[in-house]
Amino acid sequence: MSNAVRKQDTEAPPMPGDEGPAPALKPVPRITIHAFCEHPETGGAIQRAGEDRRLAKAHLTVHMGGIKAAVEQYQTNGTPNLILVETKLGGAELFVDLAALADVCDAGTKVVVIGHLNDVSVYREMIRQGVNEYLVTPLHPMQIIEAVSRLYADPDAPPIGRSIAFMGAKGGTGSSTIAHNVGWCISTRMQEDVIITDLDLPFGTAGLDFNQDPAQGIADALTSPERLDDVLLDRLLVKCSNHLSLFAAPAVLDRDFDMDADSYESVLEIVRETVPCVIVDLPHVWSAWTKKLLLSADDIVITATPDLASLRNTKNIIDLARQTRANDGMPLVVINQVGVPKRPEIPVKDFAEAIGVEPVLVLPFNPGLFGTAANNGQMIEELDPKGKTTEGLRFLAKQLCGRQAAPVKSSSSIFPFLKRLSRKG
Ligand SMILES: Nc1ncnc2c1ncn2[C@@H]1O[C@H](COP(=O)(O)OP(=O)(O)OP(=O)(O)O)[C@@H](O)[C@H]1O
Ligand SMILES: [Mg+2]
Repeated sequence: MSNAVRKQDTEAPPMPGDEGPAPALKPVPRITIHAFCEHPETGGAIQRAGEDRRLAKAHLTVHMGGIKAAVEQYQTNGTPNLILVETKLGGAELFVDLAALADVCDAGTKVVVIGHLNDVSVYREMIRQGVNEYLVTPLHPMQIIEAVSRLYADPDAPPIGRSIAFMGAKGGTGSSTIAHNVGWCISTRMQEDVIITDLDLPFGTAGLDFNQDPAQGIADALTSPERLDDVLLDRLLVKCSNHLSLFAAPAVLDRDFDMDADSYESVLEIVRETVPCVIVDLPHVWSAWTKKLLLSADDIVITATPDLASLRNTKNIIDLARQTRANDGMPLVVINQVGVPKRPEIPVKDFAEAIGVEPVLVLPFNPGLFGTAANNGQMIEELDPKGKTTEGLRFLAKQLCGRQAAPVKSSSSIFPFLKRLSRKG
């Protein structure tokens, strides 16, 4: 619960012109925000907040129709990082509407309710139910900016970005290709902001795959991680599309890249503060820093080919993950390049049995499609939007975004998952 909201226990919301000098707030990261208003004036205030420099990186869309319109929209679509809903209701009816919204919210989505009742008991109940903020109309744009900023720029709040580490079970399995394509799908299909960090410093292909000419990018950040802040990060990123940026590898051989594990970790921590989804493309190298980054990621994706070396290595990584990440889900396994002509293969069923994990995705060997994509600097989805491979990559993107995760209900809170994620302690 934030101080400023708590203030509403005792004070009316400040009116435009009453606020004094604007507080120094950190810019809000690259999150997606949807607002569902009932009154055009509220929509107008939110729109004006979205034009403020502090919300310049966020993607804000304003709809009318209140909570009901939000529930309808999210029956079929994933939810953004933050939803603002306006309601005139109070009491039981309000909580029925909020329960319907909780049912369609993905894990990690935050909710701010904009109400018309300056009533402490409604406010307290709402916060108890896991709503992240309650604001009372009439709203001044600065109140919205402050509320969003508090939710995302609070130094005590957990980082907004989930990290997904991709590593091949051996060299050349297609791990980077899958990492880049999944990052692309998350940014296009789910409209979530994604940064792909290419950590294969001498040989990384993220720049090539997205047809971008990388600047020094991530190597500069790693050599002096203490200098990295969101301003420098903006300069080092290569923007590929509205929702996708690359932290590209320099791919030069005249430099040594002997950075330590701590440098990699602190750079990734800063990246995770600015964007909801961080794809960590690791080379097939086992060293202190790759091990640390792999095992500390929120999700792990291992790409294997159906052969014995891949099987052994996948099993070893899974065993290590099981030991060191007892409270996390198992790494996701992709079996790639199945059906290379004349190559003997371990059948997928036997592979799965041996590693003790069902693969999340099996992709066929398709040299025409993958070769064209690699040589043209295009994504698989762009080349073959209706194909099975694209469908598989979208499915993996969806799994990794938690779109399948069913919200957990409990008697005490209709937004238990929001509550869990909203604040530490
Ligand atoms: N399903 C597939 N069918 C055919 N070719 C593929 C397939 N998946 C990936 N490739 C190709 O395999 C090559 C290696 O892919 P990629 O560089 O992504 O592998 P990697 O596992 O990241 O390798 P490294 O060990 O170098 O990091 C690329 O040329 C890519 O286009
Ligand atoms: Mg690679």
